[in-house]
Amino acid sequence: MTPATVFLQQPDFIRACYIVAFSLFIYGLSGLTGPRTAVRGNRIAAVGMAIAVVATLLNKGMGNWGLIVLGLAIGTAIGVPAARNVKMTQMPQMVALFNGVGGGAVALLAWVDFRNSGGFAHTPTYVTIFSLFAGIVGSVSFWGSNIAFGKLQEILPGRPITLGRGQQFVNGALFLLAVALGVAIAAGSHAQILIIGMLLAAAALGNLIVLPIGGADMPVVISLLNAFTGLSAAATGIALNNTALIVAGMIVGASGTILTRLMAEAMNRSIPAIVAGGFGGTVTAPGVEGPEGGGTVRSTSPDDVAIQLSYARLVVIVPGYGMAVAQAQHAVRELTRELEKRGVEVKFGIHPVAGRMPGHMNVLLAEADVPYDQLKEMDEINPEFPRADVVLVIGANDVTNPAAKDQPSSPIYGMPILEVDQAHSIIVLKRSMNSGFAGIDNPLFYNEKTALLFGDAKSSVSDVVSAVQDL
Ligand code: TAP
Repeated sequence: MTPATVFLQQPDFIRACYIVAFSLFIYGLSGLTGPRTAVRGNRIAAVGMAIAVVATLLNKGMGNWGLIVLGLAIGTAIGVPAARNVKMTQMPQMVALFNGVGGGAVALLAWVDFRNSGGFAHTPTYVTIFSLFAGIVGSVSFWGSNIAFGKLQEILPGRPITLGRGQQFVNGALFLLAVALGVAIAAGSHAQILIIGMLLAAAALGNLIVLPIGGADMPVVISLLNAFTGLSAAATGIALNNTALIVAGMIVGASGTILTRLMAEAMNRSIPAIVAGGFGGTVTAPGVEGPEGGGTVRSTSPDDVAIQLSYARLVVIVPGYGMAVAQAQHAVRELTRELEKRGVEVKFGIHPVAGRMPGHMNVLLAEADVPYDQLKEMDEINPEFPRADVVLVIGANDVTNPAAKDQPSSPIYGMPILEVDQAHSIIVLKRSMNSGFAGIDNPLFYNEKTALLFGDAKSSVSDVVSAVQDL
């Protein structure tokens, strides 16, 4: 063994590498607080992760290099093209999938540890407890994330799939079964069937927690699963005595937990209630006639929209997922400039769960150079709607649905919304009468103050810009 190899394999050197790695994680994460510094922050954290991986591989006794290289090659071959080709609007699915893989790896590690040591009878108690905790939570996270991926990718129906009244009982029973098997293992039993049963019970629980969650509540669930994966990875780090895994897991666990709380607050939901029962679904808001029911909506033209906007004093633009799909943000910025040239005041109303990921609208509008001070959060913009002459709703649906305020039977009842129906006039840009993510009808479209401009948001906004210029 050369002196260089001896030096590189010293535990102190590896620990020093870990300290550098997680300093970079934390520094990189601080960059993620704003869209301008996010890309750099992400790169810094990725360098930290590369250092942590290399430092782990330096550990003495690291064997089976063939398998390690094969794993790295397969991961790179799948991960790099997937990350390069993913569309911005498919990001949540990708996050769900990557998150799930982390949870799955942690669950498999618990099983491998169990096999390697022939059960946990001779393992220190704290290692056993953290391994079993990681196994259960990692398995819940893996299977739950797969269901979340299926729903977001529309492979599975977005509506709640429930077992009805028995749901909570079955979930409770599965949880108790997983814990009971874990206790039997911790008590010294070394039958492998016990750990397989524990992971399977947790797997069923993961499926059954996420299947009943529908529509608008998915953001809370995705961040909750994220937190689960982080916590299970940190527990594995404690069991394996790996500092880098503890720190990385805790960073993911803590940020996922904070995000879950923020999302739940934004949706006015309690986290236990979402996990226990699920919310959201496909219903037609009572008292509202959809197109099949013969209800009437008023459609408008780019010329009419241009006139209304040009003669307004205050215009509030409410962007949503459709703006992201159409990539209409640059056209929207151009429209803003044209209106401001004519002395119209323009503000943006941003709902915390508009789009498909936290901060989705902020990122798109920042990319199009919309000044940050024009973006107003929900609490700030809601009191302004009664003063707005025109609200331009661009590809947003659920986040403007008044059923959340006044229809207790609606699956989104209680979710705070952008109160666009308070404005003098509302123009909605969308392609059809299709519903939004929550799969429910929107009474706003049948409001007498509302007119719909049908078409792809990017071409509709561009047409309105041309019409404003021609005035
Ligand atoms: P949605 O309610 O999903 O509505 C989007 C609207 O955009 C649809 O009505 C759709 O109607 C329209 N649209 C789609 N493509 C378009 C295009 N090319 N041009 C014009 N319009 C287009 O969006 P939202 O109001 O932003 O609400 C977000 C929803 O997603 C919430 O339910 C939220 O809970 C959920 N969600 C959010 C997140 C996060 S973290 N933000 C994550 C997962 C889920 P047409 O098909 O008729 O055009």
